[in-house]
Amino acid sequence: MNDRLQLAIELARRAGGLILEGQNSSIQVSRKGPTDLVTDYDLKAEQMLVKGIVEAYPEDRILAEEGTSSPKVGGDAEHLWLIDPIDGTTNYAHGLPFYSVSIGLMSNDSLALGVIYDPARDELFHAIKGGGAWLGDKPLGVSEARTLEDSLLVTGFPYDIRTNADNNLNHYNKLSKLTRGVRRLGSAALDLAYVAAGRLDGFWELRLNPWDWAAGVLITQEAGGVVTTFDGGEKVIGGDETLLATNGHLHEPLQQILTEGS
Ligand code: IPD
Ligand code: CA
Ligand code: CA
Repeated sequence: MNDRLQLAIELARRAGGLILEGQNSSIQVSRKGPTDLVTDYDLKAEQMLVKGIVEAYPEDRILAEEGTSSPKVGGDAEHLWLIDPIDGTTNYAHGLPFYSVSIGLMSNDSLALGVIYDPARDELFHAIKGGGAWLGDKPLGVSEARTLEDSLLVTGFPYDIRTNADNNLNHYNKLSKLTRGVRRLGSAALDLAYVAAGRLDGFWELRLNPWDWAAGVLITQEAGGVVTTFDGGEKVIGGDETLLATNGHLHEPLQQILTEGS
């Protein structure tokens, strides 16, 4: 597994360098939905990442957000890579330096490694199952906040916010009044990495895709945090799409609020 981790770190840094270069040139932005953007750098970075994995591990499966495929991708191989070439594309398209490259790996359906790279700050978060979570060479640990009153949270909103009433605005409203604040930073992968680093005390969101959460969930768990669906279930691909990640102390009170009627 260490070889795959080394590859993921190398590729995340390389893709991060590429997308950072994009910020200094003209980025082509198109729409996948009214507010769901994609840039030419999402595609370039994804192609670079997928090529690097296919060259090294041609039998591994890959699920990448922008749908890059290769003739060898598919099947029921033991290893499944989950790739978000730019998590935080809206920020990226606006030149707001808060976005990341997220690479997760599942081995026989269990999270095995996660790498999240923030090129604007040159911060690389990683974890390998059972090996702790790291920011560069520093070990990560979740925060000590014990009450909602003392907590700083982060959340995000789904792209169908305009058309789906189940859009998280109710919980955002409620929790903004019960905590020190609720941030909306725009990169679910970094939101999770920040919970792992103890910079934030908890994160929740609806309807994320596996490439958004795979790396960050393992990094949070390895930092001592707790990650479940809103009703306390295990986070699995194809399962309940809600996600709650906390320092552990805040899990129960947050679960209670997120599962009660609005
Ligand atoms: C999005 C970001 C955002 C979250 C959205 C995601 P993208 O990913 O992670 O923070 O709120 O739900 O889809 O589209 O920038 O890769
Ligand atoms: Ca994403
Ligand atoms: Ca993305």
